[in-house]
Amino acid sequence: MAEIRKLGVVGLGAMGAGIAQLGVEANLDTVGHELDAARGAAARDRIAHFLTRKVEKGQLEQGERDEAITRLQVTTDLADLADCDVVIEAAFEDLAVKHELFRALEAAVRDDAILATNTSALSVTEIASVLDRPERAVGMHFFNPAPLMPLVEIVRAERTSAAVFDTAFELGATLGKAPIRCTDTPGFVVNRVLIPLLNDCVRVLDETGVTPEDLDAGMRLGAGWPMGPCALLDLVGADVHVHASEALYEKLREPRMAPPARLVRMLKAGKLGRKSGEGFYTYE
Ligand code: 3HC
Repeated sequence: MAEIRKLGVVGLGAMGAGIAQLGVEANLDTVGHELDAARGAAARDRIAHFLTRKVEKGQLEQGERDEAITRLQVTTDLADLADCDVVIEAAFEDLAVKHELFRALEAAVRDDAILATNTSALSVTEIASVLDRPERAVGMHFFNPAPLMPLVEIVRAERTSAAVFDTAFELGATLGKAPIRCTDTPGFVVNRVLIPLLNDCVRVLDETGVTPEDLDAGMRLGAGWPMGPCALLDLVGADVHVHASEALYEKLREPRMAPPARLVRMLKAGKLGRKSGEGFYTYE
């Protein structure tokens, strides 16, 4: 199995920054790529903030935190990913964007580098189809918030080589996650279940007239969910959820997969959840 020393992460939004945080915490030299320097700096601040919180909570030594930060390089130049062993793409969920990025990444990295995608609802096989060497592509699907959620789905695309799949699986464990083996089916395992379930929850709001607070309390206290569905949707973001929902509906055509009208209205009104300050709840 190939040894992984240097990790690249492309797209440093909430997911990408979380994955980069996992990289530096796992002692990997980590290069994070963003489109502009301001976004890169914001991601670095976010990672520094969460590592500081871990020190404050006694989960990390100050020295380890400082060292971890030095392992993070933030760049706007894909050429800086040239000597990465694995690059995990966590960019915008749009097939055309991912295709352009995968082409550019293949030109930037070594021949034996692995290209992973954190896509949540697109097909890894389709993303990899633009590569000269599609056998180097694999899915590594993390969950939000990536530093806290224990799971990573390792997705075998149609042409993923066995060696690449095994290395991605190992990398998931190195990053402190519990990896599971998945195939490239719509929504893989968790989103195939979770997306229609969250859509049901939103439809229940309209059908029953119950408040988001009461629905959330119901699912937390009556079903043991760690957070209620409305709070979870606010965490994931209406934009991300609606997009994933549409992608699954397009492939599976099950009515429950289609995004509920209420969520689409929220998206159009810019009520994305935590990231915009308002969703089902308001945030400071
Ligand atoms: N890195 C490190 N730490 C982080 C963090 C991050 N990115 N984000 C939050 N934290 C820390 C914060 O520092 C916070 O501590 P602080 O308030 O003291 O600073 C702490 O996490 C959260 O503290 P909580 O006491 O609220 O933590 P909980 O024990 O309640 O757990 C949770 C939080 C793990 C998010 C839990 O509520 C949970 O499991 N929720 C469900 C989340 C879930 O289902 N995610 C999956 C979404 S679906 C998805 O991602 C798929 C995608 O394809 C759409």
